[in-house]
Amino acid sequence: MRSDPLGYLGTELDALKQQGLYRSLRILDGEQKPKAEFDHRQVVNLSSNNYLGLTTHPRLREAALDATRRLGVGSGSVRTIAGTMDIHMELERRLAAFKKTESVVVFQSGFAANAGTVAAVLSKDDYVVSDELNHASIIDGCRLSRATIKVFPHKNVEAARTILKELPAPGRKLLITDGVFSMDGDLGAVPELCAVAEEFGAIMMVDDAHASGVFGANGRGTIDHFNVHGRVDIQVGTLSKAIGALGGYVAGSKTLIEFLYHRARPFLFSTSHPPAVAAACVAALDVLEQEPQIIQRLWDNTRFFKAGLVALGFNTGISESPITPVIAGEGARAMKLSDRLFEEGVFAQGIAFPTVARDKARVRTIVTATHTRDELQFALDVFAKVGRELAII
Ligand SMILES: Cc1ncc(COP(=O)(O)O)c(C=O)c1O
Repeated sequence: MRSDPLGYLGTELDALKQQGLYRSLRILDGEQKPKAEFDHRQVVNLSSNNYLGLTTHPRLREAALDATRRLGVGSGSVRTIAGTMDIHMELERRLAAFKKTESVVVFQSGFAANAGTVAAVLSKDDYVVSDELNHASIIDGCRLSRATIKVFPHKNVEAARTILKELPAPGRKLLITDGVFSMDGDLGAVPELCAVAEEFGAIMMVDDAHASGVFGANGRGTIDHFNVHGRVDIQVGTLSKAIGALGGYVAGSKTLIEFLYHRARPFLFSTSHPPAVAAACVAALDVLEQEPQIIQRLWDNTRFFKAGLVALGFNTGISESPITPVIAGEGARAMKLSDRLFEEGVFAQGIAFPTVARDKARVRTIVTATHTRDELQFALDVFAKVGRELAII
């Protein structure tokens, strides 16, 4: 009989089970909404990145349906061969205007945008100086580039400066941070890092996946929030979170974007979005411009929910955004908290090592503009009950 060459995978999964870290996928029955049915249970949903509720916004839905009727369900090719449709170009023009940059290129996901861009602009004789909590897609892009990777402690601008100062003169340098960090919800040290990049002639790159649609005028992101327009060479955004659909993009100079058209491997070697996705994203930009009160509602809800958690005595870390962690300590405790919340009607994903430090396992909460106050109050009441039960508060 043939032995199973993948048998070790089962052993690793068993180890996860023993450590209480094994997760099965929760299945969403129906739409991605603030109150939704996961695994056949109605829960207040604090786990999506659907910040503005755009996944089900009527204007996006209608735009997607209309594009499907007019243009079909697929683009049929990669962008560089036959898969660039008018609607893709329109989306890129609209995003460039939104981000106030010369040009934009859209990728299949934010992950592809980060990984594809870092890997394209650097090569093995170059250096990347990266915040220790930057997103996995940045880390993978760094690895793919074969550049030397230097990591600085989270938001430690002085450490980033020292690294850059000590690097040898030859070789390009890329300084990179998330705009909003996805596990702690704090903001990157964007203006300070821009100054460091300028001092050493480094390329400055910001991943604004969680900031676009959330921070800045009409949701333009941290570059607008900190007013550092023109000082960030490469801005990455996602269309998969606040924008409510799917995709990622890079905003920057025309030269950068043309270069990525030629060298970014996910752009070159993977099929472009279906017209429905691109059309929904264009409609989302209309909503951001014409219905900014949605962003206001997101922030009102964020303040209400954060204040409620703090008043209950939870450790919510250093968040400055709608992402609010509830830190529980070691991994199994955070997973237990998440499981009990779910049983009581609140979905907040547990997150443990290696995604976060071993002793900082947590459940991560994300409120949206479309949660009602009653839903958020219900969630706070459940947090209070389960937090006391597990002696977290
Ligand atoms: C900081 C950050 N960057 C990039 C991404 C990737 O975005 P997408 O989901 O569009 O691939 C994510 C999503 O998890 C993220 O949190």
